[in-house]
Amino acid sequence: MKKIGIIGIGNMGFAILEALVKKFDVSNLYISDTSEEKIKSAIKNLKIPKNNCFLDFNDLLKQIDIVILAIKPQAFEEFTKFIKIDLKDKVVISIMAGVSIEKINKFLKIKKIIRSMPNLCAQVSQALTGWISSKEVSKTEKEIAKKIFRSFGEEIELKKEDKINELTALSGSGPAYFFYLTELLEEKANFFGFTEEEARKIAEITFIGSAKVLEKSRNLPSAPLTSMDLKNAVTSKGGTTEAALKFMEENKFGEIFQNAVECAKRRAEEMNGK
Ligand SMILES: NC(=O)c1ccc[n+]([C@@H]2O[C@H](COP(=O)([O-])OP(=O)(O)OC[C@H]3O[C@@H](n4cnc5c(N)ncnc54)[C@H](OP(=O)(O)O)[C@@H]3O)[C@@H](O)[C@H]2O)c1
Repeated sequence: MKKIGIIGIGNMGFAILEALVKKFDVSNLYISDTSEEKIKSAIKNLKIPKNNCFLDFNDLLKQIDIVILAIKPQAFEEFTKFIKIDLKDKVVISIMAGVSIEKINKFLKIKKIIRSMPNLCAQVSQALTGWISSKEVSKTEKEIAKKIFRSFGEEIELKKEDKINELTALSGSGPAYFFYLTELLEEKANFFGFTEEEARKIAEITFIGSAKVLEKSRNLPSAPLTSMDLKNAVTSKGGTTEAALKFMEENKFGEIFQNAVECAKRRAEEMNGK
């Protein structure tokens, strides 16, 4: 069994760790964070063995075969200055936004690199993770990476590294698009005179319920339904939903939304130095 370490137990690192403890033997999981509080929380809440937790990431690197880098991209270059361990035989899985395989290779002097882009939904094990590996990563190592990604959602192996920019615009930023629609619905419910509590409930339950219906429908063994099928099912001829959707279409809501996703893609490209 390979030993897996996570450096950086922040929002994403903790969510990933929480998923890993359900799928892997906890004695093979190692963590490092500069914050003693975060380490204590992982020991208490996720039962990570004390001896597998380190304030100095070099102690973790001595132990593991695969390391998940979950620190902020801005901290990466500084972090590499303190590495004292030869990483040559290890596999690095980076979740850092905007840090290319070439840059990881240059700063870590390591060949086996998997660059990935999960999203916030890792917190509920429903992340979509797109990933790509350097050619030195073996088939077996890729299988382990897939098992890691699947422990907190679903994964897609990308064909080219620059697909990460598109994926970032789609699924990386994606949760915020749905939260924004929920926010707008809540605002309108407030405008209609519902109390704040009611408005929030109306918007949030509508969003959560819709997501669950989609989840149930896409898993139907006989004939899975798409989001378009479900939208059509709610839209009766001459009804209220049709009136709203017609207005959106006439006012180019679809076009605005697609252009917004393009903006996110362009920003991802800029951040990647393309
Ligand atoms: N948040 C998202 O939705 C999302 C989605 C996809 C990808 N990502 C990527 O995920 C990564 C982590 O994001 P996040 O939101 O989880 O950030 P975060 O909450 O700031 O977590 C980073 C953690 O790493 C720790 N850390 C920094 N330097 C360290 C070192 N040398 N050794 C050990 N631990 C160290 C930080 O400790 P301190 O706080 O003490 O510095 C912090 O606990 C980023 O690269 C981001 O691009 C995030």
